[in-house]
Amino acid sequence: MQKSIEAIFSGIQPSGKLHLGNYLGAIQNWVKLQNIAKQNIYCIVDCHAITVPQTQLQKNTLHLAAELIACGIEPQKSILFVQSDNSHHTELNWILSCTALIGWLARMTQFKEKASRERENASVGLYAYPTLMAADILLYKATHVPVGEDQKQHLELTRNIAQRFNNIYDSNIFTIPEPLILEVGARVMSLRDATAKMSKSAKSEMSMINLTDSSEQIAIKIRKSKTDADAIPSETQGLENRLEAKNLIGIYASLQNCSLQSALQKIGGYSFAKFKGELTEMLIDKIIPIGNEINKLKEDENHLRGILAHGAEQAKKISKTTLRTVREAVGFYAP
Ligand code: TRP
Repeated sequence: MQKSIEAIFSGIQPSGKLHLGNYLGAIQNWVKLQNIAKQNIYCIVDCHAITVPQTQLQKNTLHLAAELIACGIEPQKSILFVQSDNSHHTELNWILSCTALIGWLARMTQFKEKASRERENASVGLYAYPTLMAADILLYKATHVPVGEDQKQHLELTRNIAQRFNNIYDSNIFTIPEPLILEVGARVMSLRDATAKMSKSAKSEMSMINLTDSSEQIAIKIRKSKTDADAIPSETQGLENRLEAKNLIGIYASLQNCSLQSALQKIGGYSFAKFKGELTEMLIDKIIPIGNEINKLKEDENHLRGILAHGAEQAKKISKTTLRTVREAVGFYAP
């Protein structure tokens, strides 16, 4: 990972429980970045979540806060807060929506996929989603944004918005952020169908491991996960066209914090039965303490709310300054 990272910002939607894919693909990296970057800000983006109707948003928001802290996001090292708790985000969003171009937004593949043929019936919020994401990032002058592949285009848009704003208002107000695409464990696939990402919207619970699963649930999900008949190869070429095997070994490697190749050096020649036994043990060692911590944190809701309130306080201190210069640049009335 890169050295000398100035300021990290990332966001995650409170739309249900976190699963192993979220943990290995994103959160584990956020936890590491805390010791590398000078400023770390992690935001629970509930405003983004309501672009599609939510039923248990407040509950999910608190649950996600507990999950992030249990995974190792430390309020002493990172600012952790809820997006709607800092109205500067929605305020800057309006200003940026006057900078972003319709043509840019119309090219966003995520919107096209989500709205599909129902375009006329998709909300304006879903369409404008990326300008709010730009506001999140630009308010804190983030230099690096850890995101998955699926958010790369939104980040590119953020850069375009920042540049266009700086040009129009002849300013250097916004820092142009870089994506931080994380290599190891970046894509954990479904345990039932390795062509699809592990996803909370999947039909089968058996396709994912949740951070609050019991040892028994973890064991059965790994035991029943799809594999093939061959043994584990010793070289990565031996994983070609073996998506299920590659996925499980990728999970193993990511838990060990090593490359696929060095994992294979260890486990090459194993039968799947033996490999799955080891993988299950490793998963249990990793996940069960996190699950216990989540439950403990949720028992004291006031404590949890205190952490988020403090986070919002710190976030506002930073975003207030950016917003003030933005308001001046666009020429808003100074009351
Ligand atoms: N759009 C991101 C996702 O769905 C979440 C998000 C919102 C985000 N604001 C952000 C990610 C700012 C990085 C930076 O995954």
